[in-house]
Amino acid sequence: MATANKKALVGVVMGSTGDWEIMQHAVRQLKDFGIPCEARALSAHRTPEALEDWMAGLEKRGVRCFIAGAGGAAHLAGVVAAKTTLPVLGVPIPSKHLQGLDSLLSIVQMPKGVPVATFAIGEAGAVNSALFAVAMLALGDASLAKALEAFREKQAQAVLAAKLPD
Ligand code: RP5
Repeated sequence: MATANKKALVGVVMGSTGDWEIMQHAVRQLKDFGIPCEARALSAHRTPEALEDWMAGLEKRGVRCFIAGAGGAAHLAGVVAAKTTLPVLGVPIPSKHLQGLDSLLSIVQMPKGVPVATFAIGEAGAVNSALFAVAMLALGDASLAKALEAFREKQAQAVLAAKLPD
C-alpha cells in the first residue's frame, strides 16, 4: 500500500494493510483539507529498515509530521518517534483479542524524552490525528486556520440542527 506524493506534508504509516480500514479515515480527513500526504504500510517489527528509509525520504522532501497507526504490540509510533524530532501522532488500532487497549497502552506509555501524541482507539483517533496535524500546519497558514474554523462551525451547526426522534 503506497500513496506517493512528492510534496507530502504528512507521512501516514500503518503497521499492516489490515490497519487501512481505520487509517483511511486519517488520510481522507487530510485530503478534505487539501493537505498532501503519503501513506504506507510498514512495520516496526517486520520491515524496520524500510520504515527508516521511507521516513528519511519524506524528511528530505519536507514532511512536517508523521501519523502512525498500529495494533497489538504497537511499537510503530514509538519507533518513528525514535527516528525523528518531527511531531509524531499515534493512532491505536482496535485489536482482535484486547479491542485496542493493548495498542493504546503500547503507544501512550512512551519513555520520558521521546513523545508520541496519542489519540483515541479506532476511527475517532484516526480522524482526530489528522485534525491535529491540520491544526499544527494551520499555525503557519492563515487560510488553513480559516478552513479549520469553518469545519468546527459546520460541525457545531450540525449538532444544533439535529432533531431527536419523537
Ligand atoms: C500490528 O499488528 C499491525 O499494526 C496490525 O494492527 C497488527 C496485526 O497485523 P497483521 O498480522 O494482521 O498484519 O503490527
